[in-house]
Amino acid sequence: MNIQEIIAKKRDKQELTKEEINFFITEYTNNNIADYQASALIMAIYLNGMSKEETVNLTTAMATSGDILDLSEIGTVVDKHSTGGVGDKVTLILAPIIASLGVPVAKMSGRGLGYTGGTIDKLESIPGYKTNISEEEFIQNVKKIGISLIGQTMNLAPADKKIYALRDATSTTESIPLIASSIMSKKIAAGANKIVLDVTYGSGAFMKTKERAKELANEMIEIGRLAGRETVAVITPMEEPLGKNVGNNLEVIEAVEALKGNIAEDVKNVVLELGSNMLKLAGKGNDLEDNKSKMMDNILNGKALEKFKELVANQGGDVTYIKDTNKFEKAKYILPVTLEEQNGIVKELKAEEVGKLSVFLGGGRIRKEDKIDPSVGITLIKKIGDKIEKGDTVAYIHANDEEKGKEAVQRLKEIYVIE
Ligand code: URA
Repeated sequence: MNIQEIIAKKRDKQELTKEEINFFITEYTNNNIADYQASALIMAIYLNGMSKEETVNLTTAMATSGDILDLSEIGTVVDKHSTGGVGDKVTLILAPIIASLGVPVAKMSGRGLGYTGGTIDKLESIPGYKTNISEEEFIQNVKKIGISLIGQTMNLAPADKKIYALRDATSTTESIPLIASSIMSKKIAAGANKIVLDVTYGSGAFMKTKERAKELANEMIEIGRLAGRETVAVITPMEEPLGKNVGNNLEVIEAVEALKGNIAEDVKNVVLELGSNMLKLAGKGNDLEDNKSKMMDNILNGKALEKFKELVANQGGDVTYIKDTNKFEKAKYILPVTLEEQNGIVKELKAEEVGKLSVFLGGGRIRKEDKIDPSVGITLIKKIGDKIEKGDTVAYIHANDEEKGKEAVQRLKEIYVIE
């Protein structure tokens, strides 16, 4: 068996055997297949797709490319994962709420992918926060304080870590078999027995229509079933960015505000929808509306924010940044975006375009080795449905390069469609 033959087979739209998929994953994880060969195969999968059986085999091979954690001693552990979005700071808000309600959360998150942001990049913008702790420490943290959020730096689904970075740099993200195997391999390896998936659709999501999102959700639910992990999917819109900010520091600050009760309506809806299902899966109540009230209670009584601080401190982060979010580094240039032309209502604010703008400012990666700039991003004052009067400031661009900042202002003016 060799990689050229496997690439040619997928290029020619043939189905790969379990042995061929295992060969690719094992050899690529062990650095015996070059990035350019893996990229060619990933592109062939992106273009020609995979059967259900191939996707299940790919997921299993990726999940077993490293260790599989056994969290059974902790009890019912619920995990959550999103298929990606722009301005999606949901995990930072949801995970501490759920942990504050006594349900252990052990979650392995990802980095930014394409024009979408990643929870790990956001957490790393908190000075000192360690996302690459050992497996033992991960389990100990969940036992000790009921929550740990980590990156893919341990030996958990290492194949996904490599393929994820390649996909980001080769525009091969929007593929059902690649997304399903990426997410489910991580979830299986990280050991949670129950999984809630946020499957997004719309401009800022990898699935552009609700139908495609349902297809992806069904594929992941089936993989979860075969792996013995009860999986529930919630389908959520991602036409415009979620919440008010896009960019790493800005989103952490928005998440802290949300945990204090100042939560944007769209963010609140997603957090409550996912969280009420997580509580149900954990056996904490079958009534989703009741579960939502319990979640709101723990925002309003401060317990969720306390849990977030505990999480940050426990993973080496400087908790004074959470106590006083003014400490987060600000971009050098904060430029208002003003629409002079017309009065009206915001009709469109394409999340994908806003996400690309954030990457352009340095908030995401173009090449997989790129360092991201945590302080840049976009604050959206006006969103779809909001009324605009001539001369209103609709947004702010946060930039560290003045020229890029000015260009971003112009680009954002065009992204706003006013009716
Ligand atoms: N999140 C992941 O972990 N993988 C994907 O492919 C997309 C979103």
